[in-house]
Formats: sequence, C-alpha cells, structure tokens
Amino acid sequence: MGPRGRRWMAWALAMLCSSALAASTAPWLPLEKDGLHDPRNPGLRELQQPADALRPLPRDTAGNLVRWVQALESGAINPRTNILPETKVRVLDQDIIVSKFGSMPAVKFPHRQHTLWLDCSNCHPSPFIEKAGANKLNMQAILNGEQCGLCHGAVAFPLTECNRCHSVPNETLRRQAGPP
Ligand code: HEC
Ligand code: HEC
Ligand code: HEC
Repeated sequence: MGPRGRRWMAWALAMLCSSALAASTAPWLPLEKDGLHDPRNPGLRELQQPADALRPLPRDTAGNLVRWVQALESGAINPRTNILPETKVRVLDQDIIVSKFGSMPAVKFPHRQHTLWLDCSNCHPSPFIEKAGANKLNMQAILNGEQCGLCHGAVAFPLTECNRCHSVPNETLRRQAGPP
C-alpha cells in the first residue's frame, strides 16, 4: 500500500472509530424513531419493539449490541434453519489464518461460527475462492464494504471491533513456524 493508500486508511479508521463511539452510546431506537417505519401508522403498535426483543440476549458493546454467536450457542435464540424443507445446516469446524505478519495481529477466519448461520454457497465460489490464500484480502476493500465487509459492518459485528478478526498474535505463528 502506498502512502496515499495508508493516509486514506488512517482517515477511514478514524471515521469508523468516531462513529463507533456515537453508536455505542445510543440505545435501541424505538420503531417510531428509527427513520424506517412510518410513526403515524397505527399498525406499529402490533410490532415488537427492538429493546423488548434484544434486551434479554447476551450483550455486545458494538453494532446492534447483541453478541449473536453467544446468543445462538447458549440457546437464547433458536432460529429456524430453513424455508425449503430439504435445507440442511452444514457446520464446518475449520479456522483459517487469512493474514499474518502485518502491523496488526493475524486474522483468524472461523468457519464454524459462520456456518452456524450461513450456507457454503453464501461465500463459495463468490465472494471467496475455496482455497486458503487464494483471495487477495485487503483492509481497504473491507472498509469499502467488500470481502468480509459485505457482512461485517452491515449485518454482522462492525469493523470497529478490530481484535475480533485480528485475534492471533503474530508471535504465536512465528513460534509455530520455528526459528527463521
Ligand atoms: C471483519 C474482520 C476484520 C475486522 C473487524 C478488521 N479487520 Fe483489518 N483485516 C482483515 C483482513 C481479512 C485483512 C487481511 C488483508 C491482509 O492480509 O493484509 C486485514 C488487514 C488489515 C491491515 C493490513 C495488514 C496488517 O496487519 O498490517 C491493517 C493495518 C488492518 N487490517 C487494520 C485493522 C484495524 C485498525 C481494524 C479496526 C478498526 C481492523 N483492521 C478490523 C479483517 C478485519
Ligand atoms: C462467511 C463466508 C464463508 C462461508 C459461509 C464458508 N466459507 Fe469456506 N472459506 C471462507 C474464507 C474467507 C476462506 C479462506 C480463503 C483464503 O484464505 O483466501 C475459506 C476457505 C475454504 C476452504 C479452503 C481450505 C484450504 O485449506 O484451502 C474450503 C475447502 C472451504 N472454505 C469450504 C467451505 C465449506 C464446505 C463451507 C460450508 C460448510 C464453507 N467453506 C463456508 C469463507 C467462507
Ligand atoms: C456472508 C456474510 C459474512 C462474511 C462475508 C463474513 N462474515 Fe464473519 N460473521 C458473519 C456473521 C453473520 C457472524 C455472526 C454474527 C456476529 O458475530 O455478528 C460472523 C462472525 C464472525 C466472527 C466470530 C465472532 C464470534 O463472536 O465468535 C469472526 C471472527 C468473523 N466473523 C470474521 C470474519 C472475517 C475475517 C471475514 C472475511 C474473511 C468474515 N468474517 C466474512 C457473517 C459474515
């Protein structure tokens, strides 16, 4: 990445962090104030408020304030697996280190936590080729809403949670690789 790219990324990260501060202090907005529902529609009273639905679930400090993987694993939620009866949940328990030895801790992509919710075909062959190291993953693209950013920051935990992806100290990988 050139100096221009780096400056751009520093700016993007600064913007992310300041909006995260704002977001983390905001509670769940009532439906009539969320800017999506028509506050004059009497049908609104029939709908469950986000705070009622989400408050009992394991709490996160970012995004929509729910730790969704924990909610699923603890049985706090039990989502229907399918629309079509033949759909089967296929969980793959495999972690892949997708980035290492940069300025940040290495990125571990966990298949298990994803395949609890998603089908293989949601990610393979697009947006990700099914081969470790085959995808040119890049933080700038992710911040632009591509790659991991298709979901993270949109429907999954936000990009401000750096260490949830950058979770493996490079030192432990160097130790596994042995002395140079
Ligand atoms: C959803 C997962 C995810 C989150 C959250 C995330 N990153 Fe990344 N990041 C990646 C991936 C994947 C790469 C791999 C690209 C590569 O190998 O350079 C990467 C690469 C990077 C790189 C370039 C490689 C390096 O280590 O020098 C930097 C710098 C970086 N991220 C910083 C951050 C910062 C700062 C945050 C938090 C504001 C963050 N990232 C949040 C997934 C994430
Ligand atoms: C949320 C997205 C996502 C889902 C869902 C997903 N994968 Fe992946 N998969 C990835 C990523 C990211 C990589 C790493 C690619 C890289 O390193 O460039 C990968 C890599 C792989 C690899 C290559 C492993 C290797 O060692 O070369 C296989 C095989 C694979 N996935 C199979 C599956 C299967 C089978 C399923 C469903 C049970 C699945 N994946 C679901 C994102 C996903
Ligand atoms: C197709 C959507 C999608 C894509 C693409 C995707 N994720 Fe996720 N990811 C999710 C969902 C959904 C969850 C579970 C909900 C949550 O934790 O917010 C999740 C959870 C995770 C978790 C586990 C969180 C936990 O609490 O255990 C990590 C780590 C993660 N993603 C990293 C990545 C990285 C790195 C990439 C890119 C290589 C990526 N994800 C791409 C949808 C996606």
